Order: sequence, then C-alpha cells, then structure tokens
Amino acid sequence: MELILDTADLDAIKELDGLLDVTGVTTNPSIIAKSGHAPEEVIGGLVDYLRPDQKIFIQTVQTDFDGMMEEARHICGIRPENMYVKIPVTHDGLRAIKAAKAEGLGVLATAIYSADEAFMAAMNGADYLAPYVNRMCNYGDGIGQVVELIEMLAVQDLPSKVVAASFKNADQVHQLILAGIQAVTVPPAVALSMIDHPGTQIAVDEFTTNWKTAFGRTTLA
Ligand code: E4P
Repeated sequence: MELILDTADLDAIKELDGLLDVTGVTTNPSIIAKSGHAPEEVIGGLVDYLRPDQKIFIQTVQTDFDGMMEEARHICGIRPENMYVKIPVTHDGLRAIKAAKAEGLGVLATAIYSADEAFMAAMNGADYLAPYVNRMCNYGDGIGQVVELIEMLAVQDLPSKVVAASFKNADQVHQLILAGIQAVTVPPAVALSMIDHPGTQIAVDEFTTNWKTAFGRTTLA
C-alpha cells in the first residue's frame, strides 16, 4: 500500500518521512492556501526535499478544460518523473483527464464523492482515483462506497489505483487498509494517531524502570 501525506507542511513531511515509509505528498488549492506560503514556495520545497522516487501531486486551480490542460502540462513538467496533476471529476475535468492521459501525463482524479464518479475517471485512464472518504460519510456509507469501488475496478480489470483521501480519523484508514486499498493520503495528525498509542510509551518507561531497579543502569551492558 502507498502511504501518502496530505499536507503542505514541510516540517511535518520531514518528520513523518523519517519515521515512516512515505510514498509521496498530495496537496490541493485549499491546503496550499492555508499553508501561509506562496504556491511556488510550497511546490519548490516539496521538489527540493522529496526523493525522485517519491511522488508529488498538485491540483489544477483553473476549472475550464483549457485552463486545466495548461496547468496539467505545467505541473507535470516541474520534474521529470513522479509528478502528477490532480484534476477534479467535473465535466471539464473528465475531458481533461482523458486529454492529459493521451499526452502521457500522470493523473489523479480528485474531488470524488461516489464510486461511480471514480469508476468513470478510471475508464478515462486516470492513474489514481481519490474518493473523499470523510466527506462521503456525510452523505452515507463512504467506507462502503470505496470498498465497492475497489471491487468494481477489480472485476472490470481497470488498472487505476484508489488513493483514499479526506480522512478525519485513524479508524477510517484502518477499515480501508483491511479492504485492500492500494493507497491512502492522510494528514499528518491522522498518520501520527496511527503510531502514537499512549500504551507504547508507558510500556517502554516500565521496561526502563524495572531494568534500572534491578541493575542500576539504563543500558544493556
Ligand atoms: C485529497 O487529495 C485531498 O487533498 C484531501 O484529502 C481533501 O480532504 P479534506 O476533506 O480534508 O479537504
């Protein structure tokens, strides 16, 4: 499974990249707008920090077909590989996904709210499909829709990967890992909540205390 970080916070990316096997980073216009940095600075920071084999996903801002295509070419030209354009699955977006794939660009279909939207983007050749899990849960069974999407792609033998997005808690991620999700993109806080069980530190403190009490030191030898 690919573990992707959904953030423009470079400090958080560096911290988690040191701790975990991070496949790449996703952003969207809201994430970059809230970062407090200029878009060029955010994107430049990601390109400078991430290894060439780590993936970067940047979303189009324009919403018409021509604007999306212009920005898709720009985004995918920022570095030679592992650069993906995120395109929302509007009508113009679906056209742009087809056209971008015809030009050989890496494409993530985003702002997906149903398994059917995602499936159509897969038919158009999108490399990744990003269902917005938590937002989908506001309309019904978001997890169930994504589980169905995984099955739909498998039975129809479509190669698009599902990169589940818009997570608000670790349990949502857990359920989709169990269902065989190919990729997740998670905010740093959700990633940390998956590795920061308080019991672990309590256990380590207890080992140290017991060892020190018995042997008068905190090292093995
Ligand atoms: C996905 O790539 C999006 O950036 C993101 O997950 C949207 O999540 P939100 O619902 O927190 O805005």
